[in-house]
Amino acid sequence: MKIAVFASGNGSNFEAIVEAVRDGKVEAEIALLVCDRPEAYVLKRAERLGISSITLQPKAFESKIAYETEVLDHLQAESIELIVLAGCMRIVGATLLKAYPKRIVNIHPSLLPLYPGRQGIEDAFNDGATETGVTVHLVDEGIDTGPVLAQRKVAIHQGDAIELLEGKIHALEHELFPEVIQTYIKKLKS
Ligand code: GRF
Repeated sequence: MKIAVFASGNGSNFEAIVEAVRDGKVEAEIALLVCDRPEAYVLKRAERLGISSITLQPKAFESKIAYETEVLDHLQAESIELIVLAGCMRIVGATLLKAYPKRIVNIHPSLLPLYPGRQGIEDAFNDGATETGVTVHLVDEGIDTGPVLAQRKVAIHQGDAIELLEGKIHALEHELFPEVIQTYIKKLKS
C-alpha cells in the first residue's frame, strides 16, 4: 500500500509512521511527504529519513481546486492509494476527497466530536476538562467530522501543566496512529 503523508509542521507523527513501517509494524510504503510550508521542520525529518517530499504553497495557486489538482497529479504519478494527514493544517477540498473516497485518514488531539479545530489540546485544557484524548478518523468535507476509526483517552489531573498533557497526547499519538493505519490498511485489502 503506497501512502502519502500530508504535514504542515513539526512532523513527529510523520516520523513515528515512517519508523513503524521500517519496523514492519505497518505494511506500507511511505512514498511521499506533501507539505504546504517551506519552513516546516517535517521537511528536515523527511530528508534525514530518505523520504521524497514536495512543498506546494496554496497561495501560489489561483484557487483551491488548482492547488489540489496539482497535489493530485503528484499523488497519481506515485500511485498513492492512501493519504495520511499528520498535522496537516489545511481543510481537504472536494478534488482530493473525490479522488480518495474513504482513503484519507486524520489524527486529532481530542476525543472528537469534542474540541475540533486547530487547538484541540488547549481547548480541552482551558475548558477544565478532566479527560481528553486522541482520535483517528476518516476525513470528510467537515472539520474533524468524519467517521471515527479509533479513540484513546488521557486523564487531565488538577494542577497538571499543559506541557505535561501535550507530552502525553503526543506519545499516545505516536503509538496509536501507526496501529490504526495498519488495521485500516488490512481492512482496505480484505
Ligand atoms: C498532532 O497533535 C495532531 O494530532 C494534530 O497536529 C499535531 C501534529 O504534530 N493534527 P506533529 O507535527 O506530528 O508533531
